[in-house]
Amino acid sequence: MRLGVAADHGGFELKNRLVSDLKGMGHEVMDFGALELDSLDDYPDFVVPLALAVSSGEVERGVAVCGSGVGACIAANKVQGVRAGLIIDMFSAHQGVEDDDMNLMCLGGRVVGYELAKDLVHQFLDARFKGDQRFRRRLEKVNRLESRR
Ligand code: RB5
Repeated sequence: MRLGVAADHGGFELKNRLVSDLKGMGHEVMDFGALELDSLDDYPDFVVPLALAVSSGEVERGVAVCGSGVGACIAANKVQGVRAGLIIDMFSAHQGVEDDDMNLMCLGGRVVGYELAKDLVHQFLDARFKGDQRFRRRLEKVNRLESRR
């Protein structure tokens, strides 16, 4: 799968470890930064370009990491067509895709350890949107909000 990743200083180390793992699994990974650790950097500078790439289809899915994952999730969800979720458990990692068509996963680099984060990302990537009528109806209601902007 063609994936994008992004992180600020709070997610920098975890993001880099995930990139190695994902490449090792054969995924094509576009890294939207940060490419070096800068304790003063700002998550929107990396997360928004990733979210735009998810929105345009340049990458199929994205993984964004900041300290808590909260800021990354807020920023990503401002971009049209992005359905980002802050994920800390295995159920939501796949159910968010299956029911809600989540296309960008946010993680807290100061919250989850590498092994859990790796499993969460694998669950996310293995999951597919089920596409049931009720799921589409709910998303359509969300999409209507975007078109009012
Ligand atoms: C950065 O120190 C931290 O505030 C940021 O990574 C993130 O946790 C925001 O949600």
